[in-house]
Amino acid sequence: MMCSLPNSSVFRPSAAFLAQAHAPPPAANVYVGRTRVVARESGQVERNLPVHALEAGAPPLLDNRDVVVARHDVPGLPGGFVLSDVLSPAECARITAAADAMGWTEDAPVSLGRNVRRNTNCVWCVDEDALNRQIFERCASKLPAEVVGGGALRGLNARWRLYRYDAATGDVFRPHTDGAWPGSGLVDGELVHDVYKDGTRSWLTFLLFLTTDFEGGETTFFLEDGTQPAVRTPLGGALCFFHGEHALSPLHEGSLVTSGVKYVARTDVLRVSYEDKHIVSVVNYESSEVSLLPRVEARAPAPSVHVGDRDGDHDQGESSSLQGVVGKNGRDGGDGVLSSSSSHEVSAQYVVRPVSREYKFVTERAIPRLGLLLVGLAGNNGTTVVGSVLANKHNVTWRTKNGVQKPNYYGSLTQASTCHVGRMDGEEVYCPFRSLLPMVNPNDLEISGWDISDANMADAMERARVLDYDLQRQLRPMLENNTAMPGIYNPDFIAANQEERANHVIQGTKKQQVEKIREDIRNFKQSRNLDKVIVLWTANTERFSEVSDELHGTKEALLASIERDEAEIAPSTLYAVASILEDTPYINGSPQNTFVPGLIDLAVSRSVLVAGDDFKSGQTKMKSVLVDFLVGAGIKPVSIVSYNHLGNNDGKNLSAPQTFRSKEISKSSVVDDMVASNEILYQKGESPDHCIVIKYIPYVGDSKRAMDEYTSEIFMGGTNTIVMHNTCEDSLLASPLILDLVLIAELCTRIQIQEVGKDPCERPLHPVCTLLSYLSKAPLVPRGVPVVNALAKQRAMLENFFRACIGLSPEHNMMLEFK
Ligand SMILES: NC(=O)c1ccc[n+]([C@@H]2O[C@H](COP(=O)([O-])OP(=O)(O)OC[C@H]3O[C@@H](n4cnc5c(N)ncnc54)[C@H](O)[C@@H]3O)[C@@H](O)[C@H]2O)c1
Repeated sequence: MMCSLPNSSVFRPSAAFLAQAHAPPPAANVYVGRTRVVARESGQVERNLPVHALEAGAPPLLDNRDVVVARHDVPGLPGGFVLSDVLSPAECARITAAADAMGWTEDAPVSLGRNVRRNTNCVWCVDEDALNRQIFERCASKLPAEVVGGGALRGLNARWRLYRYDAATGDVFRPHTDGAWPGSGLVDGELVHDVYKDGTRSWLTFLLFLTTDFEGGETTFFLEDGTQPAVRTPLGGALCFFHGEHALSPLHEGSLVTSGVKYVARTDVLRVSYEDKHIVSVVNYESSEVSLLPRVEARAPAPSVHVGDRDGDHDQGESSSLQGVVGKNGRDGGDGVLSSSSSHEVSAQYVVRPVSREYKFVTERAIPRLGLLLVGLAGNNGTTVVGSVLANKHNVTWRTKNGVQKPNYYGSLTQASTCHVGRMDGEEVYCPFRSLLPMVNPNDLEISGWDISDANMADAMERARVLDYDLQRQLRPMLENNTAMPGIYNPDFIAANQEERANHVIQGTKKQQVEKIREDIRNFKQSRNLDKVIVLWTANTERFSEVSDELHGTKEALLASIERDEAEIAPSTLYAVASILEDTPYINGSPQNTFVPGLIDLAVSRSVLVAGDDFKSGQTKMKSVLVDFLVGAGIKPVSIVSYNHLGNNDGKNLSAPQTFRSKEISKSSVVDDMVASNEILYQKGESPDHCIVIKYIPYVGDSKRAMDEYTSEIFMGGTNTIVMHNTCEDSLLASPLILDLVLIAELCTRIQIQEVGKDPCERPLHPVCTLLSYLSKAPLVPRGVPVVNALAKQRAMLENFFRACIGLSPEHNMMLEFK
């Protein structure tokens, strides 16, 4: 089958197109300008193949004329098309003349040898302004704007490869596929192989036909279905087809030229490569929608499950336990009717409908140079984070009474936990969590921050009494010349016992303090040459601020309150405002209500990530596991009593009633969602007795003791009591969480999401980052979004979200292949 021949059964082009295909050859032309060699490259045999360019001031090769390019799809060749009238015969003649002036070589800097490519070759790096862009602009509207996973069109590759096929020497380019190329170009007269340096790659061959006085020489394609469409491209036309890794990249040949000489110029259409710069995935998101059926009279004792149809025409009297599934198989499965039951009566009947939505995820691959600014840098957590990252980075080992200890990141979800990714040869395969998506390595973090204490970092580390002595000794030289930047201090918001520490503070009004923090963020970013910065609060717990609409209700109200130097604006809120105004994510590691409504409003309006509250490191973490387990097992916790005593500065600060109250609030709501999930065990509004006590006992230092008693009602009126004693090395547990919060928050700023068919395009994640819930005692969520506290659910949310970003389905643990 040959396209463009009158009897072609495959390609039926227009008459004008056919006329062009055999148009008379252009008048003979001699290039009068000068050419030069801009680089030398290796071929199959030769080491010095020239790459040519035209000298500056060369006569123009293109005419200033109106050009109307037409596109003709090549039937039988998926994705292939011919653009006719790209060049006029005169323009073709000037280009071939220029190539003749540069000269031809048998060898070529391509991977295919003479056995495949038998023609002569001239590599020409064309002038972007004078030639390349003009040709691209003539054709751009006819080129596919985007392909799946593809980014925007970028232009044509300035690296032209001209081929001369002479019938006298039996020239042919035997079957091959075309490779993808980066965009080359001339910079200050020098050839630059990858001139864009941003992942720009080619995905479409652009083959210009410069002569017509030859026979044979079609471009013949060898397709998987056995067909072989052959195309004779008209003079001045461009044959385009996919290449490289593209699924439609065809095997093809430049068939034997049987008489005359064929000149072609091969270049490539470039696009900003999505795949190189982004990970793109589209996944089905299976969920369900529930609606309420009108209340019915209960006949059967609960619990029971009913299955019926959506319209509710089932026999409500015919209830039986677990007799079916909700919905039927497939995306639009039938609906089921469930009775949700308390232990006393059928309370409601629901219609449950499986729903399948399609989501697209786009994750930027480039890992930024990331800076971390800690508020409370000279505290126990601050110094432990800094010291442990240095130890890991420089592989500092230290002696303990048990031997030599190596640094590690134990306790970090990203650095020390794994994810199940599948099965190979009957074995389960697990990968490091950090390998799911490109993430910042904690060793590469640039860390600084603020503190109201002027202790240098080595003294502050010693004061914390967290890291082993021998490690401190080795870290001291790296830390003793560093002191935190002065912080914002307001004695009204932390315990009075912190006053003696506050010798390093920013003076001025609240407005001036915010400006100073903003300046610090900018300076840090600039002086360390960072791409991004994240601010994280690990300073002392503040008391709750008294939130009012007037002071905190909206972003305007909040900014105006700061302007007026209102008293009820907490230092943490000032840091957060400064960060958000610098478009810098802000994470709150303490329990106080930093995120007043106006602050969330500000973050949402500027699309800056915020997350919190309070690191979930010890007692609360255990609670979010244990209560989930108990309630999920059908056991009813009725009394949870939690005692803590700790002797670090955090404990000292929490010994004041106002700051303790903040902690109490953040610790107490952790069981709420688990209790509310089970109306069989708990009546509406019922919850276990839950009491939290914290005492300051200096002797125990950073080794916090958490003692919990869980009393539950079990089978047939029995009682079960679990008592737990947990020695929580406070800062050693919190520091890996700090790193995880920062690394995951940064990654979240590189992920875009789109509900296909609903959102017009990809959008950033909601600024209130619920994905960080796993690490937070009282997860911050956008208004109206349910809070999830159960640790296993929180981890599954995070892991499954990341799996979706790489196109994997959620880890459902059904293992159906073994059932
Ligand atoms: N360690 C844990 O396991 C854990 C768990 C959850 C939450 N937290 C919270 O983390 C925070 C830090 O804990 P820590 O043990 O490091 O406490 P810390 O007292 O050792 O350190 C806090 C530091 O913050 C500084 N500071 C206080 N107010 C400041 C301000 N306005 N600006 C700048 N610096 C200020 C203090 O001088 C101190 O150096 C506490 O709020 C604590 O409740 C800790």
